Amino acid sequence: MTTSGNQLEDSISDASLARTQARSRQIDAAITADPSRFRMLTGARPTGSLHIGHYLGTLRGWVDLQDRGVDTWALIADYQVITDHDGVGPLKERVIGLLADYLAAGLDPTRTTIFTHSAVPALNQLLLPFLSLVTEAELHRNPTVKAELEATGGRAMTGLLLTYPVHQAADILFCKANVVPVGQDQLPHLEQTRLIAQRFDTRYGRADPEHPVFPRPDALLSEAPHILGTDGAKMSKSRGNTIELRMTADQTAAVVRKAKTDGERHISYDPVNRPEVSNLLLIASLTQHRAPEEIADEIGDQGAGRLKAVVTESLNEMLRPLRARRADLVADPGHLLDVLHAGNAAANDQADRTLSEVRFAMQMDY
Ligand code: TRP
Repeated sequence: MTTSGNQLEDSISDASLARTQARSRQIDAAITADPSRFRMLTGARPTGSLHIGHYLGTLRGWVDLQDRGVDTWALIADYQVITDHDGVGPLKERVIGLLADYLAAGLDPTRTTIFTHSAVPALNQLLLPFLSLVTEAELHRNPTVKAELEATGGRAMTGLLLTYPVHQAADILFCKANVVPVGQDQLPHLEQTRLIAQRFDTRYGRADPEHPVFPRPDALLSEAPHILGTDGAKMSKSRGNTIELRMTADQTAAVVRKAKTDGERHISYDPVNRPEVSNLLLIASLTQHRAPEEIADEIGDQGAGRLKAVVTESLNEMLRPLRARRADLVADPGHLLDVLHAGNAAANDQADRTLSEVRFAMQMDY
């Protein structure tokens, strides 16, 4: 979710991407056939408010998997905030805000376990044995970590930035998740996770291939197209080009009204030559579940003004119920904290059980 630079796209070969996509589609079909075989873990860093790119690209997909009957675990990855930030920022506020976004979007705490890293000590302890299973060279090769280091604009590599993919393996393996819905940038971390799972069993685990300690989790690659900010650049809060889930309908209208377009009156879907107009069409298309070309044809010569009105209307329509739920949720912070505490308790139960198995496998069960 954080990185999608060219460097990264270049580093994942087309062939391996095609394999992952094909495997993803198989898994999706298997989920439809029997959701009870799957446990999904997913996570996000609490670094700011969620915007429509997050919602349309990932969160909506998690809710869909939950609703299809997959046992869902959603991590608020608070320890990952300090991988590439100097401080924690207004962390508590952001964790509660992210939780409100999750629930407003439809994650249901009776079916989804929502928790934070920092509240689950046994999860974090898995980092120790897992670190013994990776080499420094492997860690330095991770293209997502490299891209994140570059994006810090000259900061030194920290021990945590280098090793957080191993910590992320603990996120996934502590609850024995077998599917992880992710964007392309997270594929290196998933590959590292599978290696750790496999090496753990070979080196420490019961040498019984029928009963490995850890599953080999698969990526469920989200095929959602990349949504840009309203100025055509990467969507980011600091650029003021985002549409956040927490905005009001009027604020949304104002941001869309300011969106960059081009000089051509006739509206057409042409992502290469008309990136800004096409991005607005894409947003309308994802919210209306219709092809962007069809929406472009309807607007035709009515120009950018009409396009913006269509985008505003379809976004506000989609977000209306979500915003109403969010307003109720933030009005009752005690309830939000209760939800988080219950999720943390469930995550601790699971993490304690997994750590016991790990200590048993490693003869550390004194
Ligand atoms: N690294 C992910 C991101 O930046 C967040 C994350 C943390 C995650 N732990 C995870 C994603 C486990 C999937 C599984 O978006």
